[in-house]
Parts: sequence; C-alpha cells; structure tokens
Amino acid sequence: MTDNIQSPSFEISRSDRSAHKKHNSFVLWSTGLSGSCKSTLADLVEKHLMNLGVHTYILDGDNIRKGLNKDLGFSNEDRTENIRRIGEVSSLFVDAGIVVISSFISPFQKDRAIAAEAVGEDRFIEVYINAPLEVCEKRDPKGLYKKARDGVITEFTGISSPYEAPVSPDVEVRTDELSKIEAAASIIEAIKSKLNV
Ligand code: ADX
Repeated sequence: MTDNIQSPSFEISRSDRSAHKKHNSFVLWSTGLSGSCKSTLADLVEKHLMNLGVHTYILDGDNIRKGLNKDLGFSNEDRTENIRRIGEVSSLFVDAGIVVISSFISPFQKDRAIAAEAVGEDRFIEVYINAPLEVCEKRDPKGLYKKARDGVITEFTGISSPYEAPVSPDVEVRTDELSKIEAAASIIEAIKSKLNV
C-alpha cells in the first residue's frame, strides 16, 4: 500500500530539532492497570520535566481515545490497534523533538514491542507503573472495577481481560509502596541522564 509513497528530503533533521530544544527526545511509555496511578505520575513527571526546561507532551486515553482512536473499543484487536497508532504518534512527537509521556494500560507485551519498534528501541523507555490488582480495585477512582465485577463493563483489564506485566521494564515504580512524589522522583532520576539537558 505504501509502495508509491516517496519520502521527500526535508533539510531539518531530528537532531537539528533536539539541538534547537537543547535536550534529547524519547518516549516514556507508562504501562499499568487502570487505577495504578499512571495519570497522576504522568502529570507530576511532566511538571518536573517542564521545570528543567524540557519540551513535553502527554498522550493518554483522554486525548487519544476521544479523538484519533474513537472508533476503537476494548477487544484484544482494538487494543492492539490503539497501541499501534499511539506508537506511530509517539514516534512523530519524538521526531519533533518532544519528550512524550504515553500513558496507556497497553496490556499486551507484543503490542508494546510493536510501539517500541515504531519509535526505535533506543528512544523507548518502558515504565511499569506497578500496583497489585487488589490495590487498584480498592482505589477504583472511576468506579469501573465495580462495574466490571457487576458485569456492566465487559473485557475489563485485570478482571475479564488479561494484563501482561513487562518482563524487564527500564523503570518500575510500586505505587502501593512509594508516595506519588517518591514515585515521580524515581522516574525522573532514572531518565535524567538520557535527557542531556
Ligand atoms: S488499552 O488497553 O487500549 O491500552 P487505554 O489505556 O487506551 O487501554 O484505556 C484505558 C482506560 O479506558 C481505563 O483507564 C478506563 O478508564 C477506560 N476503560 C473503559 N473500558 C475499559 C475496559 N474494558 N478495560 C480497560 N479500561 C477501560
């Protein structure tokens, strides 16, 4: 399908954009159960990065599933397509010189691997936001676990749809053991040297 698409040769490269922004660009790919604190941590990490002068953007269900991916639901196939598209969008942002925080359950290992390939392995930092299912279910910030238990929502991750935890994430934070501030600080600590600010 892409056989007849030729790449134009633009003169400004990704490294030109990085030099202009004075830092490297990459994706912090946050994966974890609903209620694991992905959004709160994305927010804290982004604020910290902005204070360091880093150009950032958060991709999450709110800005992706309500727009670009509003045709997708939560079947395995739709989740795969959701993550494939987000991998491609993340790659564009990285090319633009931005540090992207992509915050999605992204429950399947193979889908995260496809996203990593789209972005480039060296620019894909897998961040596992880890809290046990019981803790996430107890937090239940959106009341969705209750609905899933009652059968009102089907194919709910952790209840009626699987979650494959990362095998060797680049960064892992236990949000049931650390405070939000501590968890955000440990993510920043792990990535600071990659920024080259
Ligand atoms: S993913 O599995 O395709 O990566 P994504 O992160 O985009 O999921 O969306 C997850 C969010 O959608 C959850 O935090 C929750 O608010 C909402 N949601 C609605 N239905 C479901 C469901 N069946 N399973 C998981 N999350 C759901």
